[in-house]
Amino acid sequence: MRPVIEVAGLRKTYGSGPTAVHALRGLDLTVSTGDYLAIMGASGSGKSTLLNLIGCLDVPTEGRYRLDGIDVGSLNERQLSLLRNRKIGFVFQSYNLVPRTTALSNVELPLVYAGVGRRERRERALAALELVGLTDRAGHRPTELSGGQQQRVAVARALVNSPAIVLADEPTGNLDSASTSDMLAVFDRLNALGRTIVVITHEDEVTRHAARVVRVSDGRIVSDTYSAWAVR
Ligand SMILES: Nc1ncnc2c1ncn2[C@@H]1O[C@H](COP(=O)(O)OP(=O)(O)OP(=O)(O)O)[C@@H](O)[C@H]1O
Ligand SMILES: [Mg+2]
Repeated sequence: MRPVIEVAGLRKTYGSGPTAVHALRGLDLTVSTGDYLAIMGASGSGKSTLLNLIGCLDVPTEGRYRLDGIDVGSLNERQLSLLRNRKIGFVFQSYNLVPRTTALSNVELPLVYAGVGRRERRERALAALELVGLTDRAGHRPTELSGGQQQRVAVARALVNSPAIVLADEPTGNLDSASTSDMLAVFDRLNALGRTIVVITHEDEVTRHAARVVRVSDGRIVSDTYSAWAVR
């Protein structure tokens, strides 16, 4: 399989001098197209830092990163945000939806930034909402939806521009077990459709769905295993 994420010697240091925090201390990771990867590790071990670098939300202090064959280090701010918009779908623990507008408009948002026309926007956003099982809630605002439904809107938004990879930082952290199962079913479906998924989690139920589990400790990968038990 073609590698979609290639990270080598990645370091991230926040601040400098005696108060510097070495969040990543030389990390190598290759993720193939269609992989379903769970990242685990203690609080403060560097998981979100890693995901933010993979998602082009931040730049490393040192090291190399190729996203879908593109050397990210050589890009300027504008090129980086273009790449992010085209290749990455992000899901956060706190949903991060725009509160005063409908589910449909929230899902359309990345397409607005990408300059897609109104009609195509609507069609693609509805298709994404259908994929997460929320067609009947398209006209509702986030406050009129449950936490699990809001998170599925966030997933639809992450998918709507057909990103090469979906990155999720503790997406089920605020969800009850029924909503967690719904969410995981959506990720399974996406992965079956060929999407690459990288998800940070503390929950065994989530790692059971992933094909591969990477453990991070103190800014380094300490184990990387393929699961024979992945629920698929
Ligand atoms: N913007 C920042 N400025 C300074 N230090 C930071 C910043 N972001 C993260 N850190 C530090 O870097 C280290 C790694 O943080 P990170 O958020 O990547 O951990 P994490 O593994 O995601 O933890 P958690 O499970 O609690 O979310 C921590 O020591 C944290 O305090
Ligand atoms: Mg984190």
